[in-house]
Amino acid sequence: MANKKATLAIGSENIELDVLSGTLGSEEIDIRALGSKGYFTFDPGFTSTASCESKITYIDGDQGILLHRGFPIDQLANESTYLEVCYILLYGEPPTEKEFNTFKTTVTRHTMIHEQITRLFHGFRRDSHPMAVMCGVTGALAAFYHDSLDVNNERHREIAAFRLLSKMPTLAAMCYKYSLGQPFIYPQNNLSYAGNFLHMMFATPCEEYVVNPVLERAMDRILILHADHEQNASTSTVRTAGSSGANPFACIAAGIASLWGPAHGGANEAALKMLEEISSVEHIPEFIRRAKDKNDSFRLMGFGHRVYKNYDPRATVMRETCHEVLNELGMKDDLLEVAMELEHIALHDPYFIEKKLYPNVDFYSGIILKAMGIPSSMFTVIFALARTVGWIAHWNEMHADGIKIARPRQLYTGYTEREFKSNLKKG
Ligand code: SDX
Repeated sequence: MANKKATLAIGSENIELDVLSGTLGSEEIDIRALGSKGYFTFDPGFTSTASCESKITYIDGDQGILLHRGFPIDQLANESTYLEVCYILLYGEPPTEKEFNTFKTTVTRHTMIHEQITRLFHGFRRDSHPMAVMCGVTGALAAFYHDSLDVNNERHREIAAFRLLSKMPTLAAMCYKYSLGQPFIYPQNNLSYAGNFLHMMFATPCEEYVVNPVLERAMDRILILHADHEQNASTSTVRTAGSSGANPFACIAAGIASLWGPAHGGANEAALKMLEEISSVEHIPEFIRRAKDKNDSFRLMGFGHRVYKNYDPRATVMRETCHEVLNELGMKDDLLEVAMELEHIALHDPYFIEKKLYPNVDFYSGIILKAMGIPSSMFTVIFALARTVGWIAHWNEMHADGIKIARPRQLYTGYTEREFKSNLKKG
């Protein structure tokens, strides 16, 4: 909605631009008209640029607010389940009992993968990073589901969404089993979404595996906390890939690839490795010094955020969950002690306060997942599994709004035209 104007004065020319306001958040200058006047804006990393309009998630970085379709993340994490949050993200409203049962049954009934996909795994080395495997097998789903690739067909998009939501836990658990050389465990339709994932991760054909309800609830909460987060790097990647009309499986594979980066979803694995490297409270000051040193590339993994300049509300819930899991398992984790001391120092150190570097969602998740017996190489796989619903919701929203291929401009600072002369001998 445009109810204000901004005037851009360039030389003797005044260009009037609409100022758009949403239901929440900052006003935004609509610069679309600039292109036709021969002007473009420069904003590497899109620190000041909105790429789209969306109704799915809202973040207020200064207030530490995160809403999914208007519902605060702490209420969803404490009072809902991941599958109900998936429904809300995809359809916009909480489901009725009947709607939820239909949704849950559909997801449950599509958790198995095509048996030939299991052979794809055997093309990878056993010690492959599971995110490399996830990128490969997720993209390969397009080779098995030709009946739901017409991105302009809403029903096709819904079928693909269910297939992805249903099969990501199965594929993720298969990555883990493959790395161990253990047999794949088939989904169990009588288990919850999180319970089924834990069962596929830790069960073996030799004996019954009973899912611990505290760990099941903790995993479900971790999935909720990672479900969606506005236009983060991986979601923007999915939207960009989808803007060319690419099929949903290829777009989600692109999102997985982007999430893998240590500055993004790879931070949970990197944060745990950092805590292990610090190893004791006595070593923290040295690492704090390195984090402040401009000439040292070291950063406190699990701290800082492009948007949150206050505490990440997800980290608050994650911290509570961390203590619940460790208490349930009767574990005293030295790394948690390091984490708590690191958090305390960072929250009181002028450098971090001035740069507003608070613990983010990745700071505690690694400790919980490690306590559950999950290797750090699987942390980002679980992040990808959880974020799939957010990627699908944004991909669908982009299609529903009418896609326009993403094609940013650039500031060219290379050579002007010059004549080519090869340095190579002819013939
Ligand atoms: C996720 O976008 C999302 O929503 C992402 C996510 C989601 O759910 O999708 O929330 C998930 O990716 C969480 C972030 C996980 N990443 C990490 O924990 C990695 C460590 N954090 C940093 O790499 C960094 O904070 C970023 C990448 C998260 C944000 O970087 P920005 O916004 O581009 O900020 P910046 O790099 O420009 O840093 C601002 C200043 C810099 O100092 P100056 O150049 O101004 O002097 O803060 C410093 C940085 O050097 N800084 C840090 C720091 N993060 C930023 N210094 C030490 N340790 C850090 N972690």
